[in-house]
Amino acid sequence: MTSGPPARDAGYFDQWYADMAACPARDAIVARTLGLPPELQFASALTWEALDEITRELRLPPGGLVLDLGCGRGGYGIEVALRAGARLAGVDFSAVALEQARAIAGRRLPEGRAGFRVGTLTASGLPDGVADGVMCVDAVQFAEPPVAALREVRRVLTGGGRVVLTCWEAADPADERVPARIRAVDLRRDLPAAGFVDVRVEDRPGWRRAERALWEAAVAADDPDPAVGSLRDEGRRSLESFGSLRRVVATATAP
Ligand SMILES: C[S@@+](CC[C@H](N)C(=O)[O-])C[C@H]1O[C@@H](n2cnc3c(N)ncnc32)[C@H](O)[C@@H]1O
Repeated sequence: MTSGPPARDAGYFDQWYADMAACPARDAIVARTLGLPPELQFASALTWEALDEITRELRLPPGGLVLDLGCGRGGYGIEVALRAGARLAGVDFSAVALEQARAIAGRRLPEGRAGFRVGTLTASGLPDGVADGVMCVDAVQFAEPPVAALREVRRVLTGGGRVVLTCWEAADPADERVPARIRAVDLRRDLPAAGFVDVRVEDRPGWRRAERALWEAAVAADDPDPAVGSLRDEGRRSLESFGSLRRVVATATAP
């Protein structure tokens, strides 16, 4: 999630999600350490409690549209739509992830409440001004550069619409132990540059502590499955530079 092998294209993520689908042990480690309901199949490192904050900060009107950008298997967006009584549009460039997201939404949301489409962080394929809120969980660091994704978020939001992003930032942007894609993230600089107002970027050390527990459990996991192996590698890399990253949540309003 925060660092790793060079190519992070759609093919890489398709394989990542295919491995996850074939390996319940990987999901069980994540669900147990982050306190997540296993049936939701999250791909990220965010706790169940964090969803309260995301839902609250989006301020979605009943029946409004929330875009989950970089939605992966869709677990967080589906839960937010459920809690807010909103409609959901999920966008990701991994067709394999979206197939899984459709299946989960089919079980969790009333028919017609969710739609998923292949698109990128910088070209979602949604029309201008259509969304009441946009959430982007642990994905903005993959946009090159991240500010291009924030401009896309601004484009699809209606006036007064809200964005909530979770990500990591470098404690010291000059620290070369931090992956370049994380060093490129500066939400306090980039959200106003993309046209947002009312920008808040805050550290969430509690989320980071939960993440440490996840990586420690992943490193200790003794399972030859590729999905557990990938989580273990990610855990090793993340623990090596753990103190170099800050866990952040950003909120802002489209004027
Ligand atoms: C760490 S996962 C987070 C997924 C989801 N938000 C969650 O929390 O479960 C990052 C996601 O970003 C997607 N992604 C990465 N680069 C992308 C791009 N350029 N366009 C669209 N999606 C992208 C990946 O396919 C993956 O689903």
